[in-house]
Amino acid sequence: MTLALHAFREEAAEAQRLASALQVPLAFVNVHTFPDGETVPRIPEAARTTIVYRSLHQPNKKLVELLLAADAWRRNGAESLILVAPYLPYMRQDTTFRTGEPVSQRVVARLLDTAFDRAITVDPHLHRTASLAELFTTCTSTHLYAADALVPYLRAERVGPTTLVIGPDIESDPWVRRISEPLGLDHATFRKVRRSDVDVEIQAPADLSIAGRPILLVDDICSTGGTLRKATALLQSSGAGPITIFITHMLGDAEVSDSLSRAGAARIISTDSCPGHTSEIHLANLIAQSLAGSL
Ligand code: R5P
Repeated sequence: MTLALHAFREEAAEAQRLASALQVPLAFVNVHTFPDGETVPRIPEAARTTIVYRSLHQPNKKLVELLLAADAWRRNGAESLILVAPYLPYMRQDTTFRTGEPVSQRVVARLLDTAFDRAITVDPHLHRTASLAELFTTCTSTHLYAADALVPYLRAERVGPTTLVIGPDIESDPWVRRISEPLGLDHATFRKVRRSDVDVEIQAPADLSIAGRPILLVDDICSTGGTLRKATALLQSSGAGPITIFITHMLGDAEVSDSLSRAGAARIISTDSCPGHTSEIHLANLIAQSLAGSL
């Protein structure tokens, strides 16, 4: 076999969409759990080029299984092993915030770098790291932008021209621009100070006119929802029109999105990088386009 797409069962629907976009057959890895909690992944027949779809939210378990499976793919003839991991975990720990901490971003990237020949991901959180090439030195890395899937979706929905695209912090500026500029919409970013894992303070620029305007509030990650909740509440109290939240990687559960609705969000959408109740924007075509030229 020359080309195969393998996936783990938790992401069957997302992997199936990618298989259809690439017109490649999909087969699943089975993971056996031993009584002591150790696991052994059992791969289907590997191909010379094996593409592996694995979103790495809930990363501690998934990373170990993926690295073990990578050994099996190599032993079974995969010469080119391509990882499609739309969500790359541990990217926010890109420095030691407190004495005694690791730089988790580097550790996790190094593990994947040695196991795969190519890695494709979407909106990796690279605040203090200039590009994925700094993290992946032997494996070829590709950075895709969820904005490129969202923009056509919003165009099709005929997003209103008075919509204001907002990012909750300065780090969100790149994706705020990548969404607002092709749609010709105004944009702005708030300022955020993080007090703890769950407590943030958000401020809007003093001269920003919000009242009555439809809002598209965008962020790369929603975890506890603290950031987007505070930003939504601030927009509400400033008299904003309907607030739509767009998240690339929705790590929070239904309770988190309910809390965003209670804060004033009219609609919450995310990509399917972390499958769940908000994943309306499918990334399969974007990923398939990036793979198509190189298979
Ligand atoms: C942080 O820099 C990210 O861009 C997100 O704003 C952050 O991870 C969101 O986390 P939470 O939902 O817990 O506020």
